Amino acid sequence: MSAPNIRVYGNLEELSRAAAGEFSRLARETKPDGKPFTAALSGGSTPKPLYELLARPEFEIPWLRVHLFQVDERCVPPNDPQSNYRMIREALLDHIALPQSHVHRMAAERPDRDAAARSYEVELRGTLGVTASDWPRLDLIFLGMGDDGHTASLFPESAALDETERAVCPNWIGKLKMWRLTVTYPVLNAAAQVIFLVSGGKKAEILRDVLRSPGSSTPYPVQRVQPSSGTVTWYLDKAAARLL
Ligand code: 6PG
Repeated sequence: MSAPNIRVYGNLEELSRAAAGEFSRLARETKPDGKPFTAALSGGSTPKPLYELLARPEFEIPWLRVHLFQVDERCVPPNDPQSNYRMIREALLDHIALPQSHVHRMAAERPDRDAAARSYEVELRGTLGVTASDWPRLDLIFLGMGDDGHTASLFPESAALDETERAVCPNWIGKLKMWRLTVTYPVLNAAAQVIFLVSGGKKAEILRDVLRSPGSSTPYPVQRVQPSSGTVTWYLDKAAARLL
């Protein structure tokens, strides 16, 4: 893994504002192929302030030229407190004029999780205009990192870590005793830009291990995010970066 691009900010608010500015810059750039700007959003708690900022007019985001996807979702109803979509909707979608057809929600509540994953893959591929032989290349993916080194819903020792054929799949998370849907490494590693958002002192030790031992024999899931022709940038606050 090449030397990571690391940006350290004073706190989560400053980190979120910087990430919102980067999203806005990218979304306003006219793409050579004229296609819409495509971004995938993670769940969890860290990105919520970012999503709230993205809803503000000051960032001048051309929402009619943006498509939003999910990185992963818990297999719960979309109004469940655990739902990533619910968090994204409350923080961002309820406050912007983004056409419903530009919002791509993972229907992880469906009893047939495998069919839900396959449908989402079809939607992702179709929106990005890629055939089954190519991997969908998202313009930007926001990822978090758990204190066990997971990202998306790619947790240590979970089956989806080894998925190489599907872009989206169900994944049983033993430690949480729950099912999730997640994009897989082929999609993460096809992205043009990946931005990790990591905040808080609790993440400092795992972050040091992740960033200082990239070549370890048993990599953390987050270390396997290495876009073949894209960039990875770590947006950290001082507390998370204190051991670097
Ligand atoms: C999820 C996320 C997950 C998250 C990490 C970090 O569904 O929970 O997609 O991958 O990014 O668990 O979560 P925090 O930002 O809450 O620490």
